[in-house]
Amino acid sequence: MKDFAVGDAVFGVCDAGQEAAYAEKIAIKAAIVARKPESLSHVECAALSLIGLTALCSVEDTLQLKSGETILIQGGAGGVASFAIQVAKHIGARVITTASAANHDYLRRLGADQIFDYHSQDFTKVVSGCDAVFDTVGGEVAKRSFAVLRPGGRAAFIASGSAAPASPRADAVSLRPKVGRDRAHLDRIAALVTSGAVRVPEITTYKLSEAAAAHKVSEGRHLRGKLVFKVR
Ligand SMILES: NC(=O)c1ccc[n+]([C@@H]2O[C@H](COP(=O)([O-])OP(=O)(O)OC[C@H]3O[C@@H](n4cnc5c(N)ncnc54)[C@H](OP(=O)(O)O)[C@@H]3O)[C@@H](O)[C@H]2O)c1
Repeated sequence: MKDFAVGDAVFGVCDAGQEAAYAEKIAIKAAIVARKPESLSHVECAALSLIGLTALCSVEDTLQLKSGETILIQGGAGGVASFAIQVAKHIGARVITTASAANHDYLRRLGADQIFDYHSQDFTKVVSGCDAVFDTVGGEVAKRSFAVLRPGGRAAFIASGSAAPASPRADAVSLRPKVGRDRAHLDRIAALVTSGAVRVPEITTYKLSEAAAAHKVSEGRHLRGKLVFKVR
């Protein structure tokens, strides 16, 4: 290993296929970790890694969002969407998002321009003409999202399994981001956060011994921001 010295602090996400285990020590390829910025804690980097990779791959690489465009980001208060909202604003796009009323102030602080409470408003009746949709909710929300796109619009889905739902419209594309792990994207996450363009999402920490309770919260799908296990 040439890039790092023993003891260097790094951050990243386990390789695909290596996830789904909690461990204090793990061997990981140097090519898929990046140097941890000094100004960020390990907990913050742990929170940022997968949500940052997913948001960058979806908004920049897959949707190729441009300055001046309008994007609807479904499920704004979740971890990936919290990062995606800020990346979209940094690009210069107008951001519309959906969330429960209790999360609207949080999302305004992240930069969202317009926020709809999905409990009391049907987004298909109040949003239209979007250049892009980024759906992090899945199910019926994903399927109904095509309705808000302008002709030629594009939609990306990360909560509908390994394939994007089929587009019901001939004039709108449906995309499934392929979220990889590589140092270039992790360095970009670090640069966006250390420059102040992206704020760290709200973090809830759990002890590893509280894993069962943490899973319940995560599976409940109403966590704001990101959950992190603190091993010690
Ligand atoms: N590589 C990948 O493809 C990849 C990587 C990471 C995550 N994912 C997937 O992406 C999805 C999002 O993950 P996440 O960790 O960012 O968030 P999450 O924890 O799954 O989502 C929590 C958020 O979803 C919101 N929500 C629930 N139902 C909603 C609805 N009907 N409309 C709008 N918002 C709704 C909740 O907001 P309120 O409390 O405001 O209701 C909550 O803040 C998951 O399905 C996850 O498996 C995929």
